[in-house]
Amino acid sequence: MSKHPIPFSTLGRLADPPVISNLMAVALENPSLLSLAAGFTNTQTLPKETVRDAVVQLSTSGKEAEYLQYGTTQGRLGLRKFLSKRLSWQDQHQSPAYHPHNFMLTNGSQQALYLAMQVLCDPGDIVLVESPSYFVFLELLKGLGIEAIGIPVGPTNETDPEGMRDVIRKLKAEGRIERLKAVYLQAWYANPSTRSLTRSNLAALASVLEDEGLELPVLEDGAYRDLYFDEAHPAPSILAMPEWDAFPRLYFGTFTKPFATGLKCGFAVCDHEALRDKMLHIKGHQDFGSAHFPQAILQVVVENGSYDKLLEGLRKSYFGKMQLLHGELLEEGIEELDWSWDMPEGGLYLWLTGPEHLDTSIESEFCKAAVDAGVLYVPGDLCFAPGGPKNCMRLSFGVLNGDDLREAARRLAKVMRDFS
Ligand SMILES: Cc1ncc(COP(=O)(O)O)c(C=O)c1O
Repeated sequence: MSKHPIPFSTLGRLADPPVISNLMAVALENPSLLSLAAGFTNTQTLPKETVRDAVVQLSTSGKEAEYLQYGTTQGRLGLRKFLSKRLSWQDQHQSPAYHPHNFMLTNGSQQALYLAMQVLCDPGDIVLVESPSYFVFLELLKGLGIEAIGIPVGPTNETDPEGMRDVIRKLKAEGRIERLKAVYLQAWYANPSTRSLTRSNLAALASVLEDEGLELPVLEDGAYRDLYFDEAHPAPSILAMPEWDAFPRLYFGTFTKPFATGLKCGFAVCDHEALRDKMLHIKGHQDFGSAHFPQAILQVVVENGSYDKLLEGLRKSYFGKMQLLHGELLEEGIEELDWSWDMPEGGLYLWLTGPEHLDTSIESEFCKAAVDAGVLYVPGDLCFAPGGPKNCMRLSFGVLNGDDLREAARRLAKVMRDFS
């Protein structure tokens, strides 16, 4: 019997199926499909023993009841204290911005991004994003009725401050500047572009916003900051940059990519008291605190040094996988077919640009042919604000290994040849 239709709320009406959930489900349900799409991490290097040891330690500590009880909305103080020290060390900077009180632990950094957008934006508002940007963030914006506008890339592959000024001036001319509510940046091995932002690029962006009289909330996402291959990209976070002092600033981090995706623990830091409190109020309404046990596990592994030790191996392993995928694509000769990409210095992705005429979007013949050939990628158009190019794709070397990674590259290269 069909039920009576429900007059959904604005949010309910805007809720389309998230592409990320679909990509993850397709990959999990079809083991014969090789997925270069969803950003899963390497199953082989997941920290099984480290987590088991931490669980044994916690469950024989005599304090089991504490860990198995609800925690606080803001999250475990011991873990926040560690994060506060670590971020200040990474930035080589000390200031009240790093106080543990400014940190909140969330259900992945994705929840923190959502909380920030919920408290900052109404439907019809605007957020500036890089070109390209993290596609799940773009979907999140769409789901909240928020318009994403891309900041162009400049001549030296930077996020172009003058391009951003043009966007802002256009919004002013259209009488829409009041709707601009935030800027979202990724400074380390960005998903999907793999670019990092230099300190001077970040400073120039701050200076344009200031010039234009827009001390807007700025969101800086450091999801891949710990996953460099050789040396850490030297830019500090915006929390350490005096150029950003006047701005309400938010920094986002996560333990999912650099430790265990399944613990789904991320965090946000905010040195603007009212903004932080509002996010915590909404988090209180949503879940009054993320799962406490994963936080306790993480506190053990960060305090006993396992986290940093494991990272050393992880960096090498991802570097090897990146080289493998990169090398296989080169060997398949796709450069001669007009495909290009930069070799990343960290992160989990390659970002490929194909021939200008080619359409790789989700409904395209190319995408269907790739699925038929048994390989998945993230269509690049999902990673741009509306109106972006359709000839790009994101490939993740996170989950596949060795022969599977090679085979995925071969399958994809064949489709590229067929469409050249
Ligand atoms: C740039 C970026 N930010 C945030 C996230 C969210 O990660 P999580 O919620 O697992 O911490 C991801 C995940 O892929 C990401 O790529």
